[in-house]
Amino acid sequence: MSRLVVVSNRVAVPDAQSATAGGLAVALRDALRSCGGIWFGWSGKTAPQTADQPTMTEVEPVTYATLDLGRKDYNEYYNGFANRTLWPLFHYRLDLAEFSHENHTGYLRVNTLFAEKLRPLIEDDDHIWVHDYHLIPLGRELRARGVAHPMGFYLHTPFPALEVLLALPSHALLVESLCSYDVLGFQTENDLRAFRDYIQHEAGGEIVDANTIRAYGRQIHAEVFPIGIEQDQMEGASARAVEQGAARRLERMLHNRSLMIGVDRLDYSKGIPERFRSFERFLELYPAHRGQVSMMQIAPLSRSEVPEYKAIRDTLEGLAGYINGRYGDFDWMPLHYLTKNFQRETLAGFFRLSRVGVVTPLRDGMNLVAKEYVASQDPDYPGVLVLSRFAGAARELDAALLVNPYDHDGVAAALNKGLVMSLEERRERWQSMYAKVRGNSLEYWRERFLTVLRAVPTPMALRASG
Ligand code: F6P
Repeated sequence: MSRLVVVSNRVAVPDAQSATAGGLAVALRDALRSCGGIWFGWSGKTAPQTADQPTMTEVEPVTYATLDLGRKDYNEYYNGFANRTLWPLFHYRLDLAEFSHENHTGYLRVNTLFAEKLRPLIEDDDHIWVHDYHLIPLGRELRARGVAHPMGFYLHTPFPALEVLLALPSHALLVESLCSYDVLGFQTENDLRAFRDYIQHEAGGEIVDANTIRAYGRQIHAEVFPIGIEQDQMEGASARAVEQGAARRLERMLHNRSLMIGVDRLDYSKGIPERFRSFERFLELYPAHRGQVSMMQIAPLSRSEVPEYKAIRDTLEGLAGYINGRYGDFDWMPLHYLTKNFQRETLAGFFRLSRVGVVTPLRDGMNLVAKEYVASQDPDYPGVLVLSRFAGAARELDAALLVNPYDHDGVAAALNKGLVMSLEERRERWQSMYAKVRGNSLEYWRERFLTVLRAVPTPMALRASG
């Protein structure tokens, strides 16, 4: 099998990060291990200047090639264009999107640099798989450097509707860059439809069939590959963790009260302030639950140097204090709000203990927490998932209590419904969701994408076939 070259913004080099590597990092590492190859990207570290050459770490048969980013590149590429322009725009937050020429230049500069540093590492028979919105221009830059290899791109976030994308001054370049790849992967039908809309109505391209488009002189395969989780591992972890220290302590703290849980990176797209307001409405509208149920929100800090992320942190601290001050009692705290990070295994135990999983992003590519919550449940006494209809996961997990996160009364009603739901209905809903999570594992997702990518011939294969 030919080698794989994976490129992502952050690279999870084993040893340094293996203890905390998430499911996706592990899945990509496994793919690389099975065929050998390179994982290229940012080291996650900053330095006064961007490194001149990547640091190579060999963990046979995989080479990790990572670059430290200088402050200017880090600010303009990562904090700036990726996380203050594309991220809010792709999550329908035009009100938060900043359009800075400087940041756009920095974004292109870092993508060009990545292409320059990656080019010499590519061999004739490689397949290249690029991940996420940070690196959309990379394919174009590689093509400009003579890379004719099969290149796939997977977008982990939503792809915005045409009208929203048009607000981006550089939308044409961005979509043309996407079309440098041979295979494009999206999370949901919605995202693929939005992309096809752009191609048809803005780029003057052609929709050939369900998964083929022609634009900018190229033919591209664009398909929906909804990402999954390592369900077996999550299931095993939750059964183990629920018997162990942290889960036991949590259970003692609860004193037979029910628990509702939310776990999200601290990001405005996750709808955490809206969730807190819905929880407040729930306490107001359903007073019988006061003193009987607590909500635990775990929100590890993320992208802390981006002003919008600092602002949301202040908002949440204010809201949590307000709710606990207004409704709490000397022996009951309604809302536990933590920005601490927990190991996946510990979270799996917390999920299993929780009567309701609250996953209410305002917009989300997929949301793997929703799937992890399902995988962590005790099949005999499963909890209830309250899920935003604007999370990609809602497509598959349609047996959840689907809510509109902007509708606080509606979410409050779903929280109440989750708490009073019969065991029979809980089991029925859970079984339906579990079957979907099981049927679309992370490994299945990866292999589906790679099968399509590997069907594109490498330059070496083309030469061999004459
Ligand atoms: O798709 C969401 C994403 O940007 C991933 O690429 C990334 O792993 C995750 O969010 C965390 O974001 P960050 O790398 O900015 O901390």
